[in-house]
Amino acid sequence: MSKTLIAGNWKMHLTAEQSRGLAERVEKTAVKYSKAVDVVVCPTHVCLPAVAAVTKKLSVGAQNIYFADEGAFTGEVSANQVKEFVRYVIVGHSERRHVFGELNEMVARKAAACLRHNLTPIICVGEIGYERDHGETVQVLNDQIATGLTMLTAAEIEQIVIAYEPVWAIGTGENAKPEDVAAAARTINQAIQEMFGAAAASKCRILYGGSVTAATAASYLALEEISGLLVGGASLNEHEFNDIVEQASHDK
Ligand code: PGA
Repeated sequence: MSKTLIAGNWKMHLTAEQSRGLAERVEKTAVKYSKAVDVVVCPTHVCLPAVAAVTKKLSVGAQNIYFADEGAFTGEVSANQVKEFVRYVIVGHSERRHVFGELNEMVARKAAACLRHNLTPIICVGEIGYERDHGETVQVLNDQIATGLTMLTAAEIEQIVIAYEPVWAIGTGENAKPEDVAAAARTINQAIQEMFGAAAASKCRILYGGSVTAATAASYLALEEISGLLVGGASLNEHEFNDIVEQASHDK
């Protein structure tokens, strides 16, 4: 069994100094529970060096990368550039997809770029509210997985992480029902099995994300289908985030 993974997505919050301070405090929790939990924090790109400098057990992730290694891409940052500071990269977050127009094809190239540089992509998938209301969740997840993972091999699938993040649940306080999260995770696992086989699919960790707090974390952590959580807003509060990590350290 792989360890439970708790990742904090700090989004476009905190200065470098604030990021370093929060990382130092979360590091202590990561050390305390390191036998049972992999803890990751994802600051903005400019804060990565400051956070990487004060973390050991606590892993660092980037929130995004561009898929080319270098070139005339003003404003972008490559996997090759962040790899000095991070082990993980969030790829295809719903804010990238819906605010910045990222498509599944782009997600596929970014995931491949991460693996080319030995970074673990946390690939986000999930339906918007309209799709949920019209019974399209399974179709959306199948499409996002089929295209998003198309450039990867079965061996690489064993190293990636998928985060099921229903878009309507992100930053809204509206939690997905645990049984719906379990069903979505089974859909994702099934889609991966069909592409890469059961062995690879069984090693691919699936997280849940969307308005997770210390009060709701346990209901998702208890699910067999779920290997951890991607936490946004609550990860900016060290007490809340540390509490979630502690809960994740308890056996299922
Ligand atoms: P949230 O964000 O926990 O604030 O809903 C989750 C995410 O965007 O990954």
